[in-house]
Amino acid sequence: MPSPWISRRGKWFWILTVSTVVVIAIALGVGLGIGGTFWKPAVGETWQIVLLTPLDNTTTNASVYDVDLFTNPISTFQNLQSMGRKVICYFSAGSYEPNRPDSNNFTAADKGHGVDGWPGEFWLNTSSPNVRDIMTQRLKLAAQKGCDGVDPDNVDAYNNNGGGFGLTSTDAIDYLSFLAIGAHSLGMAVGLKNAGEIVNQTLPMMQWQVNEQCVQYGECATFQPFIKANKPVFHIEYPQSSGEMKFTAAQLCGVGDTSLDGFSTVLKSMDLGDPVTECSNS
Ligand SMILES: *[C@@H]1O[C@H](CO)[C@@H](O)[C@H](O)[C@H]1NC(C)=O
Ligand SMILES: *[C@@H]1O[C@H](CO)[C@@H](O)[C@H](O)[C@H]1NC(C)=O
Ligand SMILES: *[C@@H]1O[C@H](CO)[C@@H](O)[C@H](O)[C@H]1NC(C)=O
Ligand SMILES: *[C@@H]1O[C@H](CO)[C@@H](O)[C@H](O)[C@H]1NC(C)=O
Ligand SMILES: *[C@@H]1O[C@H](CO)[C@@H](O)[C@H](O)[C@H]1NC(C)=O
Repeated sequence: MPSPWISRRGKWFWILTVSTVVVIAIALGVGLGIGGTFWKPAVGETWQIVLLTPLDNTTTNASVYDVDLFTNPISTFQNLQSMGRKVICYFSAGSYEPNRPDSNNFTAADKGHGVDGWPGEFWLNTSSPNVRDIMTQRLKLAAQKGCDGVDPDNVDAYNNNGGGFGLTSTDAIDYLSFLAIGAHSLGMAVGLKNAGEIVNQTLPMMQWQVNEQCVQYGECATFQPFIKANKPVFHIEYPQSSGEMKFTAAQLCGVGDTSLDGFSTVLKSMDLGDPVTECSNS
């Protein structure tokens, strides 16, 4: 029997109240990316990464392709997906690159120190609302083009003199949260690029790690938390680079080295063109 307090408010009061709560909960859930469905790869994927040019060779037997968001047409992504492959779309999230379609949207104040080794490229103030608006547009472009996930690069300004803005690892974690919420709410996965110092803080929101040169720097073990969480470590070594010539291919592939257990390792030239050697022990 309903209590007088409830019955005084009547049926419609309760129907409207309950409906409002449900609608708010769903809206919050969507806003936070909860319940959004996106790709969650497991350890053991094979992969290919080509950033030098638009992809023109889809015959490499890899389950995942990491390719440039801007320079590849949608047809390339659809072609890969029709072969059962997943597409990760690369863009720089933490540096300004000239000659991108939206490069003119960055302001002078958004740009900090130059990026070592990449003339014309500058670290970005990743706290700037304008920078974040541009990255939101990039995520939307990735979703429109049908990317399964995104590979936002240059998120470790804290390792590069703060990019000229005093950016810290705490700022990087905040920025990655922003990128992850954005990607997930658009139905896309996202990975952490390098940034070993913040592996543990970002692991819950990241679907993989893209790693360069952990063998060269002796830090592959740092990325094992991803493997333990059954999330891939997409790992690249550059055998022809001066820092890696002293290693054999077997060492770069992690043969007999447990710190690379579970990694998806490829050997590439530093320009990330098409040629690839897939390590067979991943
Ligand atoms: C395409 O990739 C495959 C596998 O990696 C390689 O064997 C082949 O030589 C490449 N083709 C061209 C035209 O580069
Ligand atoms: C491609 O890779 C998969 C998984 O590693 C393997 O099962 C398959 O035999 C390979 N296909 C070819 C044509 O090498
Ligand atoms: C640049 O910013 C303007 C204004 O926000 C926006 O309309 C435009 O789409 C952006 N350009 C690109 C190429 O993203
Ligand atoms: C970076 O951007 C934030 C947000 O606009 C601003 O508060 C901060 O002062 C900027 N940092 C520098 C060093 O300009
Ligand atoms: C991440 O957590 C693991 C397990 O607690 C710990 O061994 C490792 O040192 C941590 N990594 C970093 C970079 O703090």
